Amino acid sequence: MTVPVIAFGQTEQDIVGGLERLHGPVTVVRRCTDMAELIAVAQSGLARAVIIAGDSSMLGISLLERLHSSDVAVVVLTDDGGEQHRLAALGVVHAALSIDPEVIAELVTTAVASLVAPRTSRLSASYADPAGALAPATVEEEPVQAPVELGEVTAVWGPAGAPGRTTLAVNLAAELAAAGKRVMLLDADTYGASVAVFLGLMDESAALAQACRLADQGLLDDTALERVSVKLAVQGAPLFVLTGITRTERWTELRPGALGNVIELARRNADHVVIDCGFCLEADEELSFDTMAPRRNGASLRCLELADRVYAVGASDAVGVPRLVRALGELEQVVPTVAPQIVLNKVRSSAVGPAPEDQLGQAWERFGPSIEVKAFLPADFAATDAALLGGSVLLESAPDSPLRLAIAALAGREVAGRRRRRPRRMKAKVTF
Ligand SMILES: Nc1ncnc2c1ncn2[C@@H]1O[C@H](COP(=O)(O)OP(=O)(O)O)[C@@H](O)[C@H]1O
Ligand SMILES: [Mg+2]
Repeated sequence: MTVPVIAFGQTEQDIVGGLERLHGPVTVVRRCTDMAELIAVAQSGLARAVIIAGDSSMLGISLLERLHSSDVAVVVLTDDGGEQHRLAALGVVHAALSIDPEVIAELVTTAVASLVAPRTSRLSASYADPAGALAPATVEEEPVQAPVELGEVTAVWGPAGAPGRTTLAVNLAAELAAAGKRVMLLDADTYGASVAVFLGLMDESAALAQACRLADQGLLDDTALERVSVKLAVQGAPLFVLTGITRTERWTELRPGALGNVIELARRNADHVVIDCGFCLEADEELSFDTMAPRRNGASLRCLELADRVYAVGASDAVGVPRLVRALGELEQVVPTVAPQIVLNKVRSSAVGPAPEDQLGQAWERFGPSIEVKAFLPADFAATDAALLGGSVLLESAPDSPLRLAIAALAGREVAGRRRRRPRRMKAKVTF
């Protein structure tokens, strides 16, 4: 059976003629000269692969994902050594421009076969052999690496209405860093990134967007990740921060594919990766006719998919709790693999009555989903306001505050604080 392919770019090298003379394994069904045409033809289902000859600098994770999601494999022919390295990092089958048509056909077959097999974002063994053997020896063999211990990824998520996602994410990261762990804090909220403000950073650089751009191009490595991240000291311990997008219209810069690679690299470099996620999970794009439309909430969804632990944060009042319950239903629909841990924040008796934890706990048992509440975080406006004003974390600005102690406990730290009397157990009065 012949594989229908698209030829893109520098095909005057008579690559097409060479392939046609083979009369068999590969048939060029279309020559494309611009990207829009390439994407349209790929989406039309006409071809199983594209051969990009010459300049392949436009090929990043986003375009690869688009092509792959249309079941179109990619083979690049280039003589540029730097570009070959980049393509290797992206896991793209590539070889020199001058290789024989028979070998191009073999590469196409390999690329198509590996699309059918489960894919990885790195160059897999099935890619490496033909390209490595055929290209002039510009691509060095990657040394076999010892397995790296991967850090734990915690996503902090919750519904709209400012329940305290950022407060928890920032302070959790700070507690872990102060405990001597290597921590990366990522701001992936595409609606209201605010980690930089919480940490008093005058940051316009949107480090996470920079990291995603590099990842998209296959240029993000350990050194680049450390270079773009903002380094802070928490009680003398380092905390690496990838700040978020400063203007919400820049959400397209956090494409899920690239963001996924940033998270994977971060977890190879840190003991803990803490992600502040956006609230919204709706997939409006699915309702449009353009099935390839970028997904605004794709960033949050990818974070939730990749996380080892998800904290679902809700505000503890008559508005916040029902919102959290609804959002959890939505989460189950959209990312069914996630088992969220419930954190009820801003717990205060003025909102729910005396012994608020008991009230909330019992109300949750009756009206919430059957997931246990992992933690109750007290309302502590004096502490949060002082921290925000000073651009500092609670463990520095209000180390003895009840909120700080509760977050430290959630982070698994034993911190000596002033003793609090356990409130009297009450019968639930609260209904949501
Ligand atoms: N436990 C708490 N007690 C008092 N104020 C809080 C608490 N948690 C968060 N806040 C405040 O609520 C506001 C919203 O918190 P934030 O973390 O930005 O929410 P989100 O990230 O969910 O939008 C901020 O002003 C923050 O200081
Ligand atoms: Mg926030």
